[in-house]
Amino acid sequence: MKVDVLLGLQWGDEGKGKIVDVLTPHYDMVVRFQGGPNAGHTLEFDGQKVVLHTIPSGVFRENTINVIGNGVIIDPFIMLNKEVNQISAITEIKSKLYISEKAHLILPTHRLLDNANERFRGKNKIGSTLKGITPTYIDKTGRNGLRVGDLLLSNFQQKYNYLKNIHLRQIKSMDFDYSTALIDGLSFAEYELAWLQAAQELKSYHICATEYLLNKALEDGKKILAEGAQGTLLDIEFGSYPYVTSSNTIAAGVCSGLGIPPNRIGTVYGLFKAYCTRVGEGPFPTELFDDTGELLRTQGNEFGSTTGRPRRCGWLDLPLLKYACMLNGVTELIMMKADVLNSLKTLTVCTNYTYKGKIITEIPYDLSDDISPQYEHFKGWNNTIDINNIPAALTDYISFIEQYLNLKIKLVSVGRDRTQNIIL
Ligand code: GDP
Ligand code: IMO
Ligand code: MG
Repeated sequence: MKVDVLLGLQWGDEGKGKIVDVLTPHYDMVVRFQGGPNAGHTLEFDGQKVVLHTIPSGVFRENTINVIGNGVIIDPFIMLNKEVNQISAITEIKSKLYISEKAHLILPTHRLLDNANERFRGKNKIGSTLKGITPTYIDKTGRNGLRVGDLLLSNFQQKYNYLKNIHLRQIKSMDFDYSTALIDGLSFAEYELAWLQAAQELKSYHICATEYLLNKALEDGKKILAEGAQGTLLDIEFGSYPYVTSSNTIAAGVCSGLGIPPNRIGTVYGLFKAYCTRVGEGPFPTELFDDTGELLRTQGNEFGSTTGRPRRCGWLDLPLLKYACMLNGVTELIMMKADVLNSLKTLTVCTNYTYKGKIITEIPYDLSDDISPQYEHFKGWNNTIDINNIPAALTDYISFIEQYLNLKIKLVSVGRDRTQNIIL
């Protein structure tokens, strides 16, 4: 069997949580391969809304095993106190969750460091979610990190103290006074205590070498869905660097983030919104600063699932989308949030850029350079979408995108609930 992959083609928040939940009944396992609690994946069903950060979005379907792979970074406090608490009110979770012993731990001091780094950058800040993502991946590649498997060792506290003290020295050298800093509303000392308690509790979960679990499952004919976090334009290699996250968000990250060989990758579902959003700093060529941008934000409820920050909104950018499809080897497209465009009489799409006097369709080295998007306009459907009678203007919009990308759109999402979809 193969591992199918579902990932975001833009700057994150495309609606991955919703679609993973929709597709889960077709899979035996749902697995996360990168990122950490910077992700916020929203699921809505039976009148309930849940936001997941670290735990895969397959947890609400019976008989599905959920795996947190080695490429993910875990904050035990967030996972247990924010996610498990929320999930447990709806379904039992422990028996269906497996965690890689090789996944790295986000320490309380990683969160302080994230904060200190952002302050140090001043007006050049990245707009991080302040969840400690970059400092944790730095310690991973710098070979200093602590992993989930370390929790099971007798000298865990010693290792923890050693790394914490290195971090505190770094923080002091940046003139960052952590004695007054709050982490999720708690002082550092309070947060650290709660974190250490959560870390102990994590030991009661299935911790194992998930690369064996997953490869054996494939040998046994099980179907696996890999759930991406963030989006292609936030990828550490190919995103709008340096305004990116610190992991490989693209399909290539599935292999290293799970221990799956490349020839085991199957269908790659690429998700995009019918428009574009971004949260945090960084270039966004088709960003709207007018009433239409405001309308997209209001209609789409474009506020961060993790941080609550307003998302920047703009028109669909096809050169960027084509780049993302190329990098990921997308085989099927899924268009999200078409309903957010319902009230628009005219739709606008970027099809190329002008740059240094030339028309280009390839993405330049620096996206914040002086590029100016060129647009085509389409008639809007300007009505509520009847999923049994798709408006002609929506069909035209879909056909244009499919032709430009040379790929088929297989599903159009038209609402937040798991049932609100058009299957094409
Ligand atoms: P993710 O990070 O990719 O899982 O996406 P988020 O959950 O951060 O953001 C997507 C938001 O859009 C969530 O609030 C979803 O409930 C919502 N959503 C998903 N699909 C649709 C849709 O088709 N229409 C509308 N209006 N909202 C949607
Ligand atoms: P999901 O999985 C949208 C953005 C942050 C910031 C940059 C770096 O919900 O789509 P980080 O905390 O990773 O150091 O932040 O990346 N970012 C996201 N934006 N959706 C996400 O995840 C994101 N995760 C990180 O806003 O600009
Ligand atoms: Mg999100």
